[in-house]
Amino acid sequence: MELIKVAGVSYTYSDGHQALKNVSLNITKGERIAVLGPNGAGKSTLFQLFNGLLQATSGSVTVKGLPVCKEHMPEIRSSIGMVFQDSDDQLFNSTVRQEIAYGLMNMRVKGTALDEAINWALEVVGMQDYGAKSPHNLSGGEKKRVALASVLAMKPEVLVLDEPTAALDPRGVSKLIRLLNSINRDLGITLIFATHDVDIVPLLADRVYLLSKGEIVLGGSTAEVFSHKETIRQIDLRLPRVAHLAELLARDSSLNIVNLPLTIGQAKHLLEQDKFGAVL
Ligand SMILES: Nc1ncnc2c1ncn2[C@@H]1O[C@H](COP(=O)(O)OP(=O)(O)OP(=O)(O)O)[C@@H](O)[C@H]1O
Ligand SMILES: [Mg+2]
Repeated sequence: MELIKVAGVSYTYSDGHQALKNVSLNITKGERIAVLGPNGAGKSTLFQLFNGLLQATSGSVTVKGLPVCKEHMPEIRSSIGMVFQDSDDQLFNSTVRQEIAYGLMNMRVKGTALDEAINWALEVVGMQDYGAKSPHNLSGGEKKRVALASVLAMKPEVLVLDEPTAALDPRGVSKLIRLLNSINRDLGITLIFATHDVDIVPLLADRVYLLSKGEIVLGGSTAEVFSHKETIRQIDLRLPRVAHLAELLARDSSLNIVNLPLTIGQAKHLLEQDKFGAVL
């Protein structure tokens, strides 16, 4: 089932800046999608069209077949859980528990079910000891986790994450990747995330849309998109570090590696098959 469909969308801000140009994409239930692009590419602008925070200047955006407009907003907002790039845009309650309770209470969850949902969400993001604290006194990474917990608690069909790893330390990034993959696999939640962190994309995405200056320049499986090395470099991104290392090793030893490894796991597999035998 097509969950989100963006067809020929352009968006121009009130100062005349055209942030999106004729963007089209489709997201199907259960997929893990990365929107990869450098700063200013239009990623956050695109995501704000999904839940009606911005309205396309032209073209159409539909969620589960419903055009994104005022009339369908309650249904659309209950299907899409959005974690903003800046957590301060998201957190406004006086304690972490209240923050997570807020959306649940709007969905009329109460009593024991409410407590259990809050505890579950806090535990998943490793913030169970922070329930009584004010979200405003947390560090950037902690705020990000609370924002994610508040959205996860509502078990949305689609989780839209704008720069989910930006404020996290290395351990936090690894934990988040494991968490997101498990909620996709076990709960069937569709994932869409925006990032310029090329190293996390192969760990977290089946498909990638490459966005540059408001335009989709490439779309396809993660391996396909990263095989367009020149395009990726032209738009001020780079290959994942493992792929870059493999590229250098292959070049120095004149090995022809058709599919560069994108993750440490894939590189290990190649090494075990002795594909780098000539150089290592
Ligand atoms: N409110 C606004 N008014 C005018 N221009 C804006 C506004 N918000 C964003 N822009 C411009 O639109 C373009 C796309 O911005 P957007 O925030 O969508 O990029 P992004 O891909 O999310 O970047 P980043 O990786 O830095 O988060 C940028 O050039 C930005 O300066
Ligand atoms: Mg952004």
